[in-house]
Amino acid sequence: GRIIFSGIQPTGIPHLGNYLGALSNWVQLQKEANVNDKLIFSIVGWHALTLPQNPNELSQSRWEMLATLLAIGIDPKRSVMFHQDDNQCHTELAWILNCITPVGKLRRMTTWKARLADSRNANSTSEIDESMLNAGLLIYPVLQAADILAYRATHVPVGEDQTQHLELSRDIAQSFNRTFVPGKKRFFPLPTQLSTPSKRVLSLRDPTSKMSKSSPDVQSRIILTDSASQISSKIRSAVTDSIKGISYDPVQRPGVSNLLTILAACLQKEPEEVASAYASKSTGELKSDVADAVEALFNGPRAEFERLRSEKAYLVQVAKDGAERAKELSEETMMSVRSMIGLH
Ligand code: TYM
Repeated sequence: GRIIFSGIQPTGIPHLGNYLGALSNWVQLQKEANVNDKLIFSIVGWHALTLPQNPNELSQSRWEMLATLLAIGIDPKRSVMFHQDDNQCHTELAWILNCITPVGKLRRMTTWKARLADSRNANSTSEIDESMLNAGLLIYPVLQAADILAYRATHVPVGEDQTQHLELSRDIAQSFNRTFVPGKKRFFPLPTQLSTPSKRVLSLRDPTSKMSKSSPDVQSRIILTDSASQISSKIRSAVTDSIKGISYDPVQRPGVSNLLTILAACLQKEPEEVASAYASKSTGELKSDVADAVEALFNGPRAEFERLRSEKAYLVQVAKDGAERAKELSEETMMSVRSMIGLH
């Protein structure tokens, strides 16, 4: 069977990009899975700590994320869902993997380079200076590899922005297998990325960058708790272009194409197919239909989230059961790992 693992940071209510790029796929995989497949979904609090977090808000987000996952249809009877920070195996394995990962590889990660660029801009300097960045940011992808490898996962459903992290996870798995596994057997499988057709949803305000939780402009993203009128006003103000008619052309028309990608994902069609149906229509008509489709998509989960977010006792129970299952599974891996590296 397949072992499917994925994670999401508890840094606020998920947005349309998180949903179309990853979360909807978690639900889909859960539907399609057969009895031999394992599904494991983690809320990765330790990863969130690499950026400054307000402790009260982090705690709230941590539980809201669990409520969100339940609201979109992740079923704790079918999938293991848990808080990463409840399972110490992740940090233990991360430490071990840190010790076989060259710093040079981590410096080449685009996420690291983006943080460097951010700090350069913030301090208005052109110098490459990493001395002020925290060490957690550099080893972030190693902790991610540990998340995946602790369960010896075979498949990882994530958006396109995680491709490089997945490549590194495979590198690290291979390097562990080569270094420590007797007969160089594949103790750690090399995890395969699973992505959706809408693996990169773009910002509504700047269609040259991805939709992200960290953008200061809240108009740039639609979050799962937005009301119908918030959704429609954000879509209406989405940046497009002044070319007449509708066509799907991600390079020349990123804004319009992003709307077509979103609509296609909601309707489970191809963007090109949707584009041809709108060829002679206006951007206004397209936007109004996109807003309706997103509202139809989020309507049910939003109501379910509102119901679940205050059910703290239930959420605590789900997290406790999930952590227990997760620990059982990863402890099996760790017993072998400890013995292979000589810490036994
Ligand atoms: P995070 O929390 O930033 O995002 C969660 C998921 O949403 C996807 N995503 C997008 N997909 C399409 N378009 C977008 N604009 C968009 N923005 C985000 C992400 O690709 C991701 O799948 N490092 C991970 C969390 C993580 C993880 C793991 C994932 C930690 N350990 C182990 C998989 C396996 C992250 O920051 O995701």
